[in-house]
Amino acid sequence: MDMIRSVPVPALGTKLSAEEAMRLAISEAYKGATRVSPNPLVGAVILDAQGGFLSAGYHEFYGGPHAEVNALKDLKPEQLQGAHAFVTLEPCAHEGKTPSCAKMMAKLPLKKVTFGLIDPNPLVAGQGAEILRQAGIEAEVFSSADPVLEAKLKLALEEVCEAFLWNFRQKKVFVSLKMASSLDGQVALKSGESQWITGPESREYVHYIRACHDAILVGKGTIEFDNPSLNIRHPTISKKNKVVVIDGEAELLGKFAHLKLADVHDPADVFWCVAEELQEKVEALLQSLGRAPQIVYVKTRVSGDLDLQDLLAKLYSKGIRSVMVEGGAFTASSFIKEALVNRIYMFQAPIIMGSGGARSWTETIRISAMADKLQIRNPRYLTFGNDFMITGTF
Ligand SMILES: NC(=O)c1ccc[n+]([C@@H]2O[C@H](COP(=O)([O-])OP(=O)(O)OC[C@H]3O[C@@H](n4cnc5c(N)ncnc54)[C@H](OP(=O)(O)O)[C@@H]3O)[C@@H](O)[C@H]2O)c1
Repeated sequence: MDMIRSVPVPALGTKLSAEEAMRLAISEAYKGATRVSPNPLVGAVILDAQGGFLSAGYHEFYGGPHAEVNALKDLKPEQLQGAHAFVTLEPCAHEGKTPSCAKMMAKLPLKKVTFGLIDPNPLVAGQGAEILRQAGIEAEVFSSADPVLEAKLKLALEEVCEAFLWNFRQKKVFVSLKMASSLDGQVALKSGESQWITGPESREYVHYIRACHDAILVGKGTIEFDNPSLNIRHPTISKKNKVVVIDGEAELLGKFAHLKLADVHDPADVFWCVAEELQEKVEALLQSLGRAPQIVYVKTRVSGDLDLQDLLAKLYSKGIRSVMVEGGAFTASSFIKEALVNRIYMFQAPIIMGSGGARSWTETIRISAMADKLQIRNPRYLTFGNDFMITGTF
């Protein structure tokens, strides 16, 4: 179980420390993980004047009320006398799809607002806090007397809205890589067979992570070998996702209508990435296809491979803010080699497939000095049935 994402909501009146309240706010934020993109995940917790738990809330869906509104909506002004609000992100100062949270909170008899991160937009950073201060409410960034706990929570605060922060700061797609491997790092047999390496518990979690991203991306080989649906099949999540396929030479495009993914996705949600030099040939081919995906024309490198940075930039311009790369081996290696992966989800099953007859997910990566090894930062380890999963950043 992921401790950061599953803090139980306490009983009314339970005394919480500032650290416990912020941890709960982070956990609340994750409840919106599959529905808020491209907005940030945000959670809020309200404690009464004695530090007792009053309520919690989160940003539930894109365009919907913000976390602060949801946390405060059922509370009466007398309950809020001297209350302390904890929010993972600075309350917004500006009117967007919803009214300004800072202005709404400024009208309440709160004593203090503690927020995890300052608004990343330099044009409005600190303005939410200023509105609160003008109204006589203390407003400050979260800190703790325990430096270890503070560092841990700050990391968790960045992680909870990492895709949003990356989109905002870099104007780029946030890229996660998910692979499932044996204990010896193999992801498929050379015959192409790869199902199943991990158990049902891992696979269910993969569908949850799929739902946390705007799109799932695979290379042509995975479509050929597995003919996957690449949709979200989860007992409690119902969501339509986008799919991105890399098929530089447009060799599989003609077979689109016969693929499983064409049955389960609206073609407008499938982005087929091909070399831009092939535009004429592809346009002619499209005339003969009954149902066709969206075509993304991508620059090529000298090697003939598609330029993955250009590919991601084109996806960003089409409104895709996060992708989960799901293989196969060549595609995973390519994204790692070009330092395009923000977060990795590496599932490992307690099985050995042997490098003699199988394929490693890093088959095209060559490191000749240990000083050049690729380090995964801030790793966390979770277990799913008999498997374990490492997630971390690059
Ligand atoms: N265990 C797991 O987590 C997992 C997940 C997914 C898949 N798999 C397995 O992995 C195997 C497939 O892996 P794979 O390496 O053969 O296939 P792949 O990575 O799915 O696709 C590779 C192909 O995609 C195209 N491609 C990828 N990046 C490209 C780029 N930058 N530019 C141009 N084309 C690009 C190329 O097609 P061209 O040949 O046209 O150049 C390349 O040969 C299957 O056996 C599948 O079952 C395992």
